[in-house]
Amino acid sequence: EELRRESLMIVTAFAAKYFHEAMLNTDEGQSIGLSYFKERGFTAETIKKFELGYSPDQWEAFTGAALNQGYKEQFLVESGLSVKRENGSLFDRYRGRVMFPIHSFTGRVIGFGGRTLKKDKNVAKYVNSPESEIYHKSNVLYGLYFAKKAIREQDNCYLVEGYADVLSVHQAGVENVVASSGTSLTTEQIKLIARFTKNITILYDGDAAGIKASLRGLDMILEAGLNVKVVSFPDGHDPDSFVQAKGSSAFKKHIDENKKDFILYKTQILLKEVGNDPIKKADVIREIVESIAKIPDSIKASVFIQECSGLLQIDERALLSELNKMRAAKA
Ligand code: CTP
Ligand code: MN
Ligand code: MN
Ligand code: MN
Ligand code: MN
Repeated sequence: EELRRESLMIVTAFAAKYFHEAMLNTDEGQSIGLSYFKERGFTAETIKKFELGYSPDQWEAFTGAALNQGYKEQFLVESGLSVKRENGSLFDRYRGRVMFPIHSFTGRVIGFGGRTLKKDKNVAKYVNSPESEIYHKSNVLYGLYFAKKAIREQDNCYLVEGYADVLSVHQAGVENVVASSGTSLTTEQIKLIARFTKNITILYDGDAAGIKASLRGLDMILEAGLNVKVVSFPDGHDPDSFVQAKGSSAFKKHIDENKKDFILYKTQILLKEVGNDPIKKADVIREIVESIAKIPDSIKASVFIQECSGLLQIDERALLSELNKMRAAKA
């Protein structure tokens, strides 16, 4: 119901303002939250634009302030900002965390990611909003509201994993960037991007999980009929750490020099594990043709078959017949 959604978005807007002000205007917020963001290299401008904040390390600071202002319990609980105890009283979901408000692509705050400042491995690094009438994780791309104009202008969208990646890359002047926020990329998220461009460049973390997620994402993007490229980062780096360590021009140079189309990217990754074993090489070829088979446009697909044939020194007709078999099996 529209009225319920509106009521929820009024609460989340209040919360974003509360966390933002708690960070800028309280001693605890400044000395813990603000200094954390500054140490990570985020400027005052970025902090303001993305409405970053801090949740006081108390059980009822936010909930108390919200109830005091007349916000209804029901909406505090449904938005996930407050949690109900057995005895019916409410407490804050986010305590002592730095807060990343998540905006809809029209700029309304619909949820939050809260990052712990503790090094303790038993504490969840991020606590995110639960699913609600206004927040459906699989339909949201972090940063899209701030990126959509640049995505359209550049006719390309950079896709990163996390909140900090969006902030640092955006701050470096590359504003056409959004994050899938840890969840594996969904068709809904790809459709959102497709409203603004048909070209996606994946910039995932340079670790095993990031590589795995990039291969999965790439197939989904192809299947949606969009074009996809991939840029890898050195193991141990993500786009945020890379750009913060090396600066904006080195980051842009890295992208230019390491941007690969999906065939080249996939081939290089898969062939790394194969060496000269011909049977394993055949498996790699089949996996690549499998990706090509996902491309709805058959002319585009045949161009990639050509590239694949050249790259792997395989007869093009053999690849085409494999492609047709896979297509027939899918139909
Ligand atoms: N994520 C999450 N819950 C976790 C871990 C990760 O929701 N427990 C999501 C967050 O959106 C996070 C993204 O997955 O931004 C990528 O995870 P990771 O690479 O582990 O975190 P970073 O974004 O690199 O976080 P930071 O740089 O602050 O350590
Ligand atoms: Mn809904
Ligand atoms: Mn990671
Ligand atoms: Mn990171
Ligand atoms: Mn990361």
